[in-house]
Amino acid sequence: MSNVVLITGAAGWLGGLLAHALVADPKTPNVQLILADIVEPKAPQGVKAVTIKADLTDKAQIEALFATPLGIPDTVYCLHGIMSRGSEDNFELGLKVNIDSVRALLETTRQKSPKDNLIKFIFTSSLAVYGGPLPHVITPDTIATPEGAYGMGKLTSELLVNEYSRRGFVDGRIMRLPTIVVRPGVPSAATSAFISGIIREPLKGLESLCPIGDSLDSPELELPSWLASPETTIKNFVIAKHVPAEKFLKHTRVVCLPGFTATVRDELQALEKVAGKEAVALVKFKDDPINRRIVSSWPPRFDNTYPLSLGFVVDEGGMEPIVRQFQKDVAAGIA
Ligand SMILES: NC(=O)c1ccc[n+]([C@@H]2O[C@H](COP(=O)([O-])OP(=O)(O)OC[C@H]3O[C@@H](n4cnc5c(N)ncnc54)[C@H](O)[C@@H]3O)[C@@H](O)[C@H]2O)c1
Repeated sequence: MSNVVLITGAAGWLGGLLAHALVADPKTPNVQLILADIVEPKAPQGVKAVTIKADLTDKAQIEALFATPLGIPDTVYCLHGIMSRGSEDNFELGLKVNIDSVRALLETTRQKSPKDNLIKFIFTSSLAVYGGPLPHVITPDTIATPEGAYGMGKLTSELLVNEYSRRGFVDGRIMRLPTIVVRPGVPSAATSAFISGIIREPLKGLESLCPIGDSLDSPELELPSWLASPETTIKNFVIAKHVPAEKFLKHTRVVCLPGFTATVRDELQALEKVAGKEAVALVKFKDDPINRRIVSSWPPRFDNTYPLSLGFVVDEGGMEPIVRQFQKDVAAGIA
């Protein structure tokens, strides 16, 4: 088996982590990577890789990903995209990147795929596909009715990946991700940014603004979110490649990756346990009702039964081990 893997969005946060995880994956021996992004991606050391700076809204640049010296990939991880706030603020760009370029990549994958050994097309979606009135717990039967450009774009691309799989054009796998904490780097403009920010900045000795509640005593701090750690998410990205096609539900390749529910208060309590009251004191509050309304509209509880039955894994122990891991990453200078 050739084990050539194409990752789009490879210069992004999860794309970079995925490349390293694939190199370490015993089930993908001697992996060779084709790494593409509009920003020049970096390859992990010691692996045969091609890095390509490409704008994937351009069909010719997509074609070029299948014409490298590494040949046709057996797996495509489609991770490139315009994130939530970006696609809400720039609707046209969101359509172009989150739908049109995904469709073009899917079609090229179909054209290049051997009929007797379909290329796996692994697509990262989001819980932003859900909106409107929702049940207490989301199950595989819950209908997705997005109320934003980002979720709409993801759902549209999901439908294409499902249809291409049903027709036997590609072997699609769609992962709806929880919100991933703790995201390293600088604070972003995303509505969900505070979910990472209230852990990340205090662990670096910096102040962080929490837009939920006005103080540590606010009842708003009971706001729950559906979360997963980066480590578990990346493990699940690799698992997605190894799930036998016949194990998926017949009518859909969508899988809501396992996660857990934590409130803003749960996060702050974990921060206090790991880094003390002085770390929590660095969190300042200024309630932002708009931000709170958006985050409150996201489903905070999912049934993990189906993804666990496929072999996907879930974080154990809630927020505390995640905060501890991030503290180690800060100490190691990689956060
Ligand atoms: N991080 C999360 O919490 C989360 C949650 C749900 C879903 N996702 C999805 O997972 C995927 C990866 O997320 P991430 O956090 O690594 O995002 P990221 O923003 O760090 O990476 C996305 C990458 O896509 C690239 N890109 C954008 N437009 C492009 C274009 N026209 N051509 C080529 N590359 C382009 C960007 O340069 C960037 O490097 C995305 O599809 C995202 O929607 C992430």
